[in-house]
This record gives sequence, structure tokens and C-alpha cells, in this order.
Amino acid sequence: MVECEGIAGIEQFSSPGKGRGLRVSRAYEAGELLFSCPAYSYILSVNERGFICEQCFTRKKGLAKCGKCKKAFYCNVSCQKKNWPMHKLECHAMCVYGENWCPSETVRLVARIIDRLRQQKERSPSEKLLLLRDMEGHMEDMDNEKREMNEAHIAGLHHFYSKHLDFPDHQALLTLLSQVHCNGFTVEDEELSSLGLAIFPDIALLNHSCCPNVIVTYRGINAEVRAVQKISPGQEIYTSYIDLLYPTEDRIERLRDIYYFSCDCKECTTKSMDMEKMKVRKLSDEISQKEIRDMVCYARNAMEDFRRLLEMCELSIDKMSTVFDDANIYILHMMYQAMGICLFMENYEGAVRYGEKVMKPYTVLYPAYSLNIASMYLKMGRLYMALDRKSTGISALQKALAIMEVVHGKDHTYVTELKQEIRGE
Ligand SMILES: C[S@@+](CC[C@H](N)C(=O)[O-])C[C@H]1O[C@@H](n2cnc3c(N)ncnc32)[C@H](O)[C@@H]1O
Ligand SMILES: [Zn+2]
Ligand SMILES: [Zn+2]
Ligand SMILES: [Zn+2]
Repeated sequence: MVECEGIAGIEQFSSPGKGRGLRVSRAYEAGELLFSCPAYSYILSVNERGFICEQCFTRKKGLAKCGKCKKAFYCNVSCQKKNWPMHKLECHAMCVYGENWCPSETVRLVARIIDRLRQQKERSPSEKLLLLRDMEGHMEDMDNEKREMNEAHIAGLHHFYSKHLDFPDHQALLTLLSQVHCNGFTVEDEELSSLGLAIFPDIALLNHSCCPNVIVTYRGINAEVRAVQKISPGQEIYTSYIDLLYPTEDRIERLRDIYYFSCDCKECTTKSMDMEKMKVRKLSDEISQKEIRDMVCYARNAMEDFRRLLEMCELSIDKMSTVFDDANIYILHMMYQAMGICLFMENYEGAVRYGEKVMKPYTVLYPAYSLNIASMYLKMGRLYMALDRKSTGISALQKALAIMEVVHGKDHTYVTELKQEIRGE
């Protein structure tokens, strides 16, 4: 393999207690691009087919479909040709299996990685700092449940891909799967809807903080790392691996479960937002610590169980409202879910009602430059526009735009498209 090419302004170093990490060698301002990385491998989610090009992830109308399987869609012949080495792993199988072709997204991604690794002769442009094979995996930390899940993925690989792939041995497959779990990215659009999965080895060097100084966004199949705070020379750069709405205990549990570490960032140490996030009602009889603890347990179980029904959602909001304030994050979580369900059921008035309750606390609880706030303003703006509440809609879209110009960059298609949307084009 050729030597590391490196990235200007960025250096890899050993971050005490965190393994490898990245730091900057010059100052960066909020909104500035630090670096970008093309996906090493990626897949488009099955339910995005027809709306987005499988190859370049451009969203547009009138995509042309693969003449064989009629399932993959492309901008043009050039995108289709470039995509064939990846698509050929699936095209024939999808025709043969029909409705029974259902590998998980992880399995689809891993199949593409295996294929690329087999053909790879030299360092790829996604590996200027870190080779995919050197990514952290935490194999030794995995519990039985995770091991079983990986065995199921390996069975899926053999079932759906054996005709077109030479598999490495079982141990190498287990290592690869654990690396994908620890370093995989969900590619999201500007509303934070998932478009697919991808691996960006260089970006996988970023450690986590709950007070991140960079944000990762996507432009087609490239990931971009932008500053959301002023960063001084020599400072480590941190992204957030998780949704930052949740209180410290929940964040720590999630980080431990997926990434096997305990976060020691400023917010995890001071828990300065937890009180705000865990607001309880002001009642004449003070609520005991035990009551709050019990309600937290209940809320966390409800989050685990809750997926589908608006009815169940409303019930749990009513129940929690006897103790929690409307801006308590467990109530916010449920209202956000309820908004999603309303949207799914095309009940736009209901969605706006829940969205409005969530919006204000969000602006207090998330950092100023947050993808979550931007996506919420976008959703609300589009909802208002659909409901003919034009001036409220424009105002929400403009708030989304102000954040997106910083986190996505002023020249991102999401930004130019949104400007057109605001102008009514
Ligand atoms: C995507 S990798 C980041 C790069 C990693 N440090 C490496 O050497 O490859 C994720 C892993 O980095 C480590 N890590 C990330 N953020 C951390 C933090 N704030 N504290 C401790 N370990 C962290 C954990 O081992 C985690 O599973
Ligand atoms: Zn394309
Ligand atoms: Zn096809
Ligand atoms: Zn933290």
C-alpha cells in the first residue's frame, strides 16, 4: 500500500483515553469546511428507490431504471455504468428472489465492502488517514446478543450474496461486521430522514463529544465535516455520534451500548442541561425523588416499546403530564413521535400541533447550530406552506436556512434548493 497522503490542516494523533483522534493544525471558524470524504462503500435504502440515484444520491424526478431488475434508478447511463460493479451483486439476485429478496441494510453494505476490498490494489481516496481494515471494532467487548446478531448477518450474506462474492473466513467476517457497527454512518437528508448507510474511513477517526465542535453532513455520497464552533490550532475535533436531546444517563447508556466507551465531555461531567431536560411539574405537594426516578424508568421503557400507535402515544403523554413539564424531554420525545405518526397518516393539523409544542424547547435544549433544529424548522415550514399559512411557513424555512448555511455550507444543493423553495420557485 502507498503511504498516507494526509489532509491539509488535519492531523491524526493519539487522544488520551480515546484511542486515535483528529486535531486541527490551524484555526477554523464556525461554518468552515475542515475536510470531506467520499464514501468507501454505501447503499441506498430500498424505500428511497425511484426518488434518488443509486450511484450519486441525487434526488430528482424522472430517474431511469435498470432494465434488468427494474429496481435500481439512475440519473443517466453514466451513473448506471459507474454503479454496475456494486449493483451486479444484487441485480440478478433481486430478479431470482423477487419478494423474498430481503437482506438487511448492514448485510447489503458489508457485501459491497467485501467486493471492494477484494478488488482494491491501493489506498482509496476515502482512506487518506485511516485504512478501512484498521478501523476500531471492539470485537472483544461484544456480548452474546451482539455476537448472535453478527452470526445472523453472516448467514444473510451467505444466503443472498454467495453467487457473486468470495467470502473471507468467518473470523474476518465477524471483525468486519463489528467494525461496521462501530464506524458505520447513516446518510441523512436535510429533514434527517435516512437515505442509506455508508462507510467513511477518514471520518471514522473522529471521536465523540456531547458538545461537538464539528458536524458531519452529506453531499451526494460525500461526507463533509464543518466547524460549528471556533476551533483553535491543536484542538481535537469531535462530532456527536448520537441525538443530543437526551439526558446524560441516557446518552451514556447509548454510547456504551453501541461504541463501548464512557463519555467524559463537559456536558457528561457537569450535566448542566439535565435539570432543564428533566423538568417536573410545579405542584403544591413536592414530587419526591423516588416518584421522579420511577417515572424516568417508566418513560425509558415506554421509549423502548413505543413505535406505532398515536393512541398509545397520547396516553403516555397524558400520564407523564401529571408529573413532567411539557418541555421535559420524555414528553418531547413522545410528541416528536406523535408528529411523525400524524404525518404518516396525513393528519397535517395534528402534526403542526405536536411540532409547535416541540419547537421552542428544542431551541433551548439543542446547541444553536444543530441538524435537529434545522430539520424541525424545515418540516414545520413545509407543513405551514402545505396548510396555506405562507408567512409562518417562510419564517420557519428562513430559520432552517440560517442554520443550514453554516452546517451544510452556502453552496450545498440543500441550501440552494431551499432558497428557491422560499422564493416560491
Ligand atoms: C468511530 S471510532 C473513533 C476513532 C477511534 N478512537 C479509533 O481509534 O479508531 C469510535 C471509537 O472511538 C472511541 N471513542 C470515541 N469517542 C470517545 C470518547 N469521547 N471517549 C472515549 N473513547 C471514545 C471508542 O472506542 C469508540 O468505539
Ligand atoms: Zn446519479
Ligand atoms: Zn438491476
Ligand atoms: Zn458526553
